[in-house]
Formats: sequence, C-alpha cells, structure tokens
Amino acid sequence: MENTKVELKLENVSKSFAKIETDEVTHALTSVTTTMESGEFISLVGPSGCGKSTMLRLIAGLINPTTGKLTVNGEEIEKPAPDRGMMFQKATLFPWLTVKDNIAFSLKMQGKLKGNEDKVENMIKVIGLENFREDYPAQLSGGMAQRVALVRSLINEPPILLLDEPLGALDAFTRMNMQDEILKIWQEKQQLAVMVTHDVDEAIYMGTRVLVMDAHPGRVIADIPIDLPFPRDRGSREFVEYRIDILNKLHFAGKGAKE
Ligand SMILES: Nc1ncnc2c1ncn2[C@@H]1O[C@H](COP(=O)(O)OP(=O)(O)O)[C@@H](O)[C@H]1O
Ligand SMILES: [Mg+2]
Repeated sequence: MENTKVELKLENVSKSFAKIETDEVTHALTSVTTTMESGEFISLVGPSGCGKSTMLRLIAGLINPTTGKLTVNGEEIEKPAPDRGMMFQKATLFPWLTVKDNIAFSLKMQGKLKGNEDKVENMIKVIGLENFREDYPAQLSGGMAQRVALVRSLINEPPILLLDEPLGALDAFTRMNMQDEILKIWQEKQQLAVMVTHDVDEAIYMGTRVLVMDAHPGRVIADIPIDLPFPRDRGSREFVEYRIDILNKLHFAGKGAKE
C-alpha cells in the first residue's frame, strides 16, 4: 500500500450535530472545500471546538458529512479503510500487550509481522523506549504511552496519515524531537499527512500547508502554504512572519503564542 499516490477532495463539506437537550444544532464544520495530495503535510490549527477532530473523523470515514462529499482518488469516503490510518486524540493502548506487542499488533493482525520484526524494533528506537519494550502500558508515563500510540499508527505506512494532536502529552523537548521523527517518516514515504494541533509553531514547523480554523461555526478561515525548506528554523524571520500572520487571523496577535 505504501507509496500509493492519493488525492483527497473535500467538496462543500459540512457536519452538524443535534444537541440532545435542546432543538439547537452545533455547526461543527461548515462548507469546507479543499484538495490535499500525497507529499503534503497539512496542519489543522485552531482553538478548541473549531472542528479539527470532526474534519479528521470525516476523512477517516468514522462519521459522514451532513452536506457535501469527501473522495479519495475520486471514490467517495463512506467508512474507514486501511488507506487512511488514524491516531486518535485520546489514543489508548491495549493494556494486556507489552510496548513491543502494541506496536506490532496491526502488522500481526494482517499477517505481515514475519520479516518486519526489524520495523518494530526501529519504531521502538525512534521513540527511545528500548528499555521498555517488554513493559505494559500501565507502567508507562502518559508521554511514553502517547509515543507508543503514535508509532503504532505510523508502522502501517498508510497513504493518508491522520494525526489528532499526536504530541499533546509530551514535554517540550521530547515534543520537538518527535516532530522531527514524524517528518522524517513522512518525507521518506511521501504520504499525505493531516495533523491536528493547537500549537501554531508546531503547525508551521511541520506543515507544507496550514489550514487555520475558527469556531462558532467551525470553519476554515485561511489556507496558508508554508514556503520554507525543511528542516525549518523556528527563529528565522520568515517563520516568525508566518506565526504573526496566523496569530493575527486567530485574533491573538500581541498576546503571545499561548495555546
Ligand atoms: N459526536 C458529537 N456530538 C455532538 N457534538 C459534537 C460531536 N463531536 C463534536 N461535536 C461538537 O462539534 C464542535 C467541534 O468539535 P471538534 O471537532 O471535536 O473540535 P476540536 O477538535 O477542534 O476541538 C464542538 O462544539 C463539539 O462539541
Ligand atoms: Mg479535537
């Protein structure tokens, strides 16, 4: 499946949810039209409740749009499929499996573990958990567990990689290292990556494009190509200009880069 070229299209996609207590509806996402393709790294950034997770869940096929449609290479997305791999915002591991077996799980289920053991070992190294490979999830810190969940979704090398705040539980330094590790894998496989973050710097550092979103109703307010070579320099003038521009759009200019 790896190296499959994909074109993902969203045409006038909206998603509303009925509120249970009242007659109101929540407009989680309204009229999104965009095209994304293999080799792009799309960052979705915006405040809580602006529809970031909803957008990922629509692409994953876990929910269907209220209006509009989503297609991959012309075929409508109706349900989850192996071409779209997702790491959830609150990723959970199998408590009864060790770190190594959690990472190997999907390969094993597909009968692909034989011959790919080195891939599992490599992923354990990527996240720096060589000394924890036989430990169980309950023995890990939150950040360690999140790293295991991350590589568990990376190991399948899906053509479309969906990451919902994959680094949220990590301390700043581990987080910056893991950003580089994700980028390394993405650059090698030339997947389409769509990553949710509410960290503007992370969005710019990793994205070839940043979709800036806002809430009430949830929507995309700007689509900004990040025209900087990798690896990016967080301190460069251009980087800072992107940051100011995006914070402006989110009405946070002058308030610092707080989440
Ligand atoms: N299954 C659901 N049922 C009802 N409301 C939902 C559901 N999922 C999301 N919402 C609402 O839609 C809006 C967008 O949610 P979400 O996509 O999770 O935002 P984000 O990930 O950007 O924080 C929020 O107001 C949220 O409460
Ligand atoms: Mg979310």
